[in-house]
Amino acid sequence: MPQYTSNPPLLEADVAQDPIIQFRRWLDDAVNIGMIEPIAMTLATVDADGRPSARVVLLKGLDADGFAFYTNYQSRKAQALAAHPYAAATFWWDRLERSVRIEGAVEKLTAAESEAYFRSRPQGSQVGAITSRQSQVIASRAELDARLADNLARYATEPVPFDPSQWGGYRLRPEVIEFWQGRDNRSHDRLVYRQIDSGWQLQRLEP
Ligand SMILES: Cc1cc2nc3c(=O)[nH]c(=O)nc-3n(C[C@H](O)[C@H](O)[C@H](O)COP(=O)(O)O)c2cc1C
Repeated sequence: MPQYTSNPPLLEADVAQDPIIQFRRWLDDAVNIGMIEPIAMTLATVDADGRPSARVVLLKGLDADGFAFYTNYQSRKAQALAAHPYAAATFWWDRLERSVRIEGAVEKLTAAESEAYFRSRPQGSQVGAITSRQSQVIASRAELDARLADNLARYATEPVPFDPSQWGGYRLRPEVIEFWQGRDNRSHDRLVYRQIDSGWQLQRLEP
């Protein structure tokens, strides 16, 4: 286990009053240090039977309303979100010895927002997105390759059809955001923001 010694203290006086602004600072630090995928987050959902599941998705939008990601609307995570529209997400930026935890309600982005993002992606990514029946069992790799080749040929010269019932974005609206920073002797810093009527309440947790 590493000893986390390089970080200065994470003090209440130094963090932003708004956790989204604080998150942006930390994300910028992770980008600037050259991490390969600083926008990767582990997203946990709960299915209709109350069973949790988690997977990695990419953070593709961040504003005052929350954290946006894109996925297949028939996927396992989408089915879980339909049953329980709440999620938790974590980031782990190892080279900074920092982690962020987010919890809150999840809502679908509008079809217009989803299509705008879909259209911003390269043609091959658009084709890949409409080709995959994400989370369904498939008989072989060859079957997927054949379907992908068909679609790549078909949509080489025409726009890829966008179906907002099949694919799009979600927004995780934060209710709780925790900033964790490694310190020596396991005396890590933990600052948690909780949404209250007037804004955000900031508390320190024991490590
Ligand atoms: C680094 C990384 C980034 C990923 N980004 C996404 C993403 O943005 N959207 C997505 O649907 N799946 C993404 N995946 C794949 C998911 O982890 C997962 O396999 C997929 O969404 C199916 O999950 P589900 O069956 O729980 O719905 C990513 C995987 C990795 C490792």
